[in-house]
Amino acid sequence: MIVIGSDHAGLALKRHVLEVLARLGRSVEDLGVQEECSVDYPDYAHAVAERIAAGPNLLGILICGTGLGMSMAANRHPGVRAALCHDAYTAEMARRHNDANLLCMGGRVVGPGVAEQIVRVFLSTAFEGGRHQRRVGKIELPEHHREEP
Ligand code: RB5
Repeated sequence: MIVIGSDHAGLALKRHVLEVLARLGRSVEDLGVQEECSVDYPDYAHAVAERIAAGPNLLGILICGTGLGMSMAANRHPGVRAALCHDAYTAEMARRHNDANLLCMGGRVVGPGVAEQIVRVFLSTAFEGGRHQRRVGKIELPEHHREEP
């Protein structure tokens, strides 16, 4: 299951990515936006990130104009490792070394061909574990850096 979302600036690329995912035979949960209306990207970033944080083996995709706002908002969720990727190499390393569980892309930055490469590599690459597991574990803030509720 791939959980996907975009704002208006990422909608055209999201539609293309949905076609790619259908060709790959991947099931999809699309949390919007569905229409060409101006929306606020954090609403979609948080909706998708909540699903990813709750499902340990889930992968997600978020697309806005640059991918920046989506990645910033999604990475506020503990357990979410959102990687902003503009090329296939970064997407591969995001999985192999960072165990990224959320792919962010910029619909105004990457074209459909590059986006397809990114998606295919991201979904087909496994985390290497080993020394990278220790480093990924250190990404989450330690107790003494966490705010009081
Ligand atoms: C919307 O205009 C744009 O700001 C948004 O899609 C995204 O690029 C923000 O990071």
